[in-house]
Amino acid sequence: MKVALTGIKPTGILHIGNYFGAIRPALRLAEQYDARYFIADYHALNTVKDGSELRRAITGIAAGWLAAGLDPERVVFYRQSSVPETFELATILSAFTPKGLMNRAHAYKAAVQQNTEKGEDGDAGINMGLFTYPVLMAADILLFDADFVPVGRDQTQHVEMAQDIAGAINYNYKKELLKIPAAAVQEDVAVVPGLDGRKMSKSYGNTIPLFSTESVLRKHIMRIVTNSQGVDEPKDPDNSQIFTLYKLFADSGEADSLAARYRGGGMGWGEAKEELFRVANRELSPLRERYNALIAEPERLDGILASGAEKARTIASRTVKRLRKAIGIDF
Ligand code: ADP
Ligand code: TRP
Repeated sequence: MKVALTGIKPTGILHIGNYFGAIRPALRLAEQYDARYFIADYHALNTVKDGSELRRAITGIAAGWLAAGLDPERVVFYRQSSVPETFELATILSAFTPKGLMNRAHAYKAAVQQNTEKGEDGDAGINMGLFTYPVLMAADILLFDADFVPVGRDQTQHVEMAQDIAGAINYNYKKELLKIPAAAVQEDVAVVPGLDGRKMSKSYGNTIPLFSTESVLRKHIMRIVTNSQGVDEPKDPDNSQIFTLYKLFADSGEADSLAARYRGGGMGWGEAKEELFRVANRELSPLRERYNALIAEPERLDGILASGAEKARTIASRTVKRLRKAIGIDF
């Protein structure tokens, strides 16, 4: 079976954009492929420098994926930090990575440009972790012989860099030591709108949390920005983020009949929000219960991740052994 591998960066708490845009599609893929999904905690360290915040984010993301339905018997699910082979492979890869390749990475270039625009030194505030980010990501991928890597469009350059680095090693040792991975960008994934109608994103502060209490979920939904149309006026469902969100949670019969009510007039935004809350809460309640149960039982969560790490290390140690032999460091 082909191997699908992806990393999830634990920065912040999960929102419903992450659920529909990343978690659900990845869980679907896991039904067809040999999936290896991990929490990229050392990637998060580049930006999250508060220990308890990072710890909370890692736990929250792990519990979130499991609560959303990730089956740890099917998917190898682990923390990056539990697989030390990653860091050894990253060191090996560094010796084959031209510095110029890192200079061309979009994320690094964007950070330099921001500095320059502010009149600061180009490298101000940029740590080596950010600069060499693509090498660590290549190690994550190449360690597990991934055939393809489901990622958002912004990450495809990183996967191409993993291809380049793997190619350089295979060429040097005249051997197919590392599998060349391909990026898999899912084009049909929904872009979930946020409270203000822009793309939901933690950087815009317009999110609806995936695992809040019922009352917090309701409060967020009630905060969705609307236009000033009165209760009686007919409304266009296709131009309303309330309806776009409703469709994600409702079945098609429900969506059709609510669309007709929007168009017919007589339904105010407050009621539209209540309808959204109803279907959102219906889908999210069981997830919330599973999430809370996992958070309340950290030993169980740790046990699941530890058994994932064990499976991951079995694969990873084989790759590192193969590499060590080829490079001549196999004493
Ligand atoms: P954020 O934009 O909140 O920082 P991340 O960049 O951490 O979110 O995204 C993690 C995953 O969730 C990515 O795969 C990303 O494509 C997906 N995602 C985030 N926001 C949305 C959204 N509004 N609609 C669809 N997918 C999203
Ligand atoms: N860079 C990815 C992101 O920001 C996270 C990530 C780390 C990753 N390592 C990976 C994704 C390996 C895919 C494969 O979302």
